Amino acid sequence: SWTMLNIVEDSIEAVRRQVGDGRAICALSGGVDSAVAAAIVQRAIGDRLTCVFVDHGLLRKGEAEQVERDFVAATGVKLRVVDAEERFLKALSGVSDPEEKRKIIGREFIRVFEDEQRAIMADGPVQFLVQGTLYPDVVESGGGTGTANIKSHHNVGGLPDDIEFTLVEPLRALFKDEVRRAGEELGLPPAMVWRQPFPGPGLAIRIVGEVTADRLAILREADAIAREELTRAGLDRQIWQCPVVLLADVRSVGVQGDGRTYGHPIVLRPVTSEDAMTADWARVPYDVLSQISTRITNEVRDVNRVVVDVTSKPPGTIEWE
Ligand code: XMP
Repeated sequence: SWTMLNIVEDSIEAVRRQVGDGRAICALSGGVDSAVAAAIVQRAIGDRLTCVFVDHGLLRKGEAEQVERDFVAATGVKLRVVDAEERFLKALSGVSDPEEKRKIIGREFIRVFEDEQRAIMADGPVQFLVQGTLYPDVVESGGGTGTANIKSHHNVGGLPDDIEFTLVEPLRALFKDEVRRAGEELGLPPAMVWRQPFPGPGLAIRIVGEVTADRLAILREADAIAREELTRAGLDRQIWQCPVVLLADVRSVGVQGDGRTYGHPIVLRPVTSEDAMTADWARVPYDVLSQISTRITNEVRDVNRVVVDVTSKPPGTIEWE
């Protein structure tokens, strides 16, 4: 729209003034906020922005490609990709506790990002850190701005303070729906612009039990089927998000073909919500649930049962971990 075009143009101009002839870095997560923020800054300062995508191996099917291929093609952004899957899996090995998983992922992310920071700064100083902070985040945190390093962003303590950056936050005045419209205006891939909420720790907190490459592969396939069918049924805008969860430490008896199986259950957790603070379980039509169940049990190895979570929040949370 005309006004959205103005908002985007103004914000590009404001970044240009703030950064001057300085340089900036930005961590891309695969989500819409960091993508739109990075696209605006790229328009403002071009190659003086370097984006970093830490592929922790915990994203869903196709999401890493969306960043590495589609986002780069749409924006021309200078991007460094770090394939850190092995490193994250090693750090997560043997860990089942949800909060422990989050801590490890936050810590590893910062370590990898700081290595990249150093490599980028070998080409010259970097003064700015781009963040996709939205208006509701600003209000929630009391309106402060200024300097930060990547650690405070991830709320991880216990590490020595490294390099301080001035924050560039081009989305500070925007609500989520405005960010999506700005993303459309900027020509970003629709799958990124319209992506539903997805947690930073990714699929690691949707495997109840230890995270392994094998379990990730199973969950990634099941999740892709559920998303495909919900999209095909036209439910994406009605459903807030639909976590797909692998109960990796549970097995139940099934029968498939001529044989008895002993496989894992997959949980579907479709919810409706306004802000994720409260939620209700989404009344997904039986036919759609049936199609998802049939496909997952036919197409995904080691899964012989699909169940639906019909708990509201509270008392349940949206995620299982
Ligand atoms: P819960 O499970 O607490 O989730 O009802 C509320 C919303 O927050 C998301 N979520 C997270 N997002 N890191 C994130 O970036 C996390 O550790 C995390 N845990 C939950 C969840 O997907 C939902 O949208």
